[in-house]
Amino acid sequence: MTYETIETRVEAGQVGIVTLNRPKALNALNDTLMDELGEALKAFDADEAIGCIIVTGSERAFAAGADIAAMAKYTFADVYKGDFITRNWETIRSIRKPVIAAVSGFALGGGCELAMMCDVIIAADNAKFGQPEIKLGVIPGAGGTQRLPRAVGKAKAMDLVLTGRMMDAAEAERAGLVSRVVPYEKLADEALAAAIVISGFSRVAVMAAKEAVNRAYEGGLADGVMFERRLFHSLYATEDQKEGMDAFLNKRAAVFKHR
Ligand code: HXC
Repeated sequence: MTYETIETRVEAGQVGIVTLNRPKALNALNDTLMDELGEALKAFDADEAIGCIIVTGSERAFAAGADIAAMAKYTFADVYKGDFITRNWETIRSIRKPVIAAVSGFALGGGCELAMMCDVIIAADNAKFGQPEIKLGVIPGAGGTQRLPRAVGKAKAMDLVLTGRMMDAAEAERAGLVSRVVPYEKLADEALAAAIVISGFSRVAVMAAKEAVNRAYEGGLADGVMFERRLFHSLYATEDQKEGMDAFLNKRAAVFKHR
């Protein structure tokens, strides 16, 4: 299968690898990419030979967030009526085989949220995580306000979501966001080795383990994510969303009205 914004391959006959591939936009997650990622994940999930899936990016960026160029022009009616992102961002949650995020460089906004939707995050020492949506006049819209506090606790999550600052790999590991940190040169090998270990176990046990851990993790999550998504949609009714995204695209400082 040939894709436009991702590449797929199989390693060791049992590990499906998806590489996000929009280098000029730091792997910004547009509709095409999320559609293709969903298709690739579903195909690996259905492939009997595959026991584990890895999602990765480039050295510079896992993904720098949802595509601001695409989002900037949306109105509240567009995002609410179209239920922006629910359609193609929720696919990953239906994948029953384990998904490892191998993260190097920026994992920001939707990029951090995508990593958190995976089951294991293995980070390179140059990884940077953050939820900078506040700087664009919006809030996280793909589960960040719900999954980040579950992963790192309220104090750290509030800090990141309210200031929009990034945290490096060492801080992310201390906070419990990432499973392991390795030197960048070892990232691909470490993720593949973990995936091969997982693939070697009983598929049924692995799927049951994933389902069980998720049950612990996801209690009450659906309501929270929907609440977040509606607020995210609502912010498209504000001038600050227009200002924040326009300022980013024109490489100038945003001047927000509501502060
Ligand atoms: C669209 C993006 C992008 C994004 C980077 N680019 N991030 N395009 N959407 N999220 C583009 C830049 O416009 C630029 O294109 C090119 O990638 C390289 O980026 P630079 O900014 O020149 O690189 P650098 O100076 O190294 O800064 C890297 C960066 C910065 C710190 C990651 O790009 C940045 O702050 N990006 C935005 C991060 C962000 O706000 N993410 C959250 C998005 S909102 P040109 O054409 O100029 O070379 C979100 C909401 C999710 O994710 C809600 C649910 C979907």
